Amino acid sequence: MPVRELIPAAQIARRVAEMGAEIDARLPPGPLTVVGVLRGAFVFMADLVRAIPRELTCDFLGVRSYGDATVSSGVVEITSDLGAPIAGRQVLLVEDIVDTGLTLRYLLDLLRARGPAGVHVCALLAKPSYKDVALDFVGFPAPDAFVVGYGLDGRQLYRNLPGICALEE
Ligand code: IMP
Ligand code: MG
Repeated sequence: MPVRELIPAAQIARRVAEMGAEIDARLPPGPLTVVGVLRGAFVFMADLVRAIPRELTCDFLGVRSYGDATVSSGVVEITSDLGAPIAGRQVLLVEDIVDTGLTLRYLLDLLRARGPAGVHVCALLAKPSYKDVALDFVGFPAPDAFVVGYGLDGRQLYRNLPGICALEE
């Protein structure tokens, strides 16, 4: 399927550098665990952690909310859990894109039940449809389209595109 680039890699890089500095300035001191939501957030998280100039650990949550469809199924499934406890730690949850906020709400409840010192949420993109749970850090307002690239997939493809693109039917 044809793709149309909406946010080029250089623009993403500039924004991610800003976000890293903002996160470091705003997060309380203390041990930090950055939790990436797999698989969509892996590219963003790789760049983001290198822009946060403080000691941190990286962990991941495997989640499936869409299957291979482009519309949310309304069901969140944990396919892989964290590797280490987060009790007493500052947690930064890293999402690729927030659409309905369903996945995010589910993950926040799950993380908060484990006694972290605090949880902040960072998303590369937030769709206009989203207005519920507070997002602490957002990269860009999401284009009102199904987007792929920079880690985001359409039927598991296009994650390797360096920019954020619209998938055109
Ligand atoms: P939500 O639960 O409706 O907020 O959906 C969030 C999840 O759906 C994200 O973590 C993405 O993996 C996926 N998703 C939502 N919109 C898009 C999109 O435009 N492109 C690719 N994946 C998306
Ligand atoms: Mg996805």
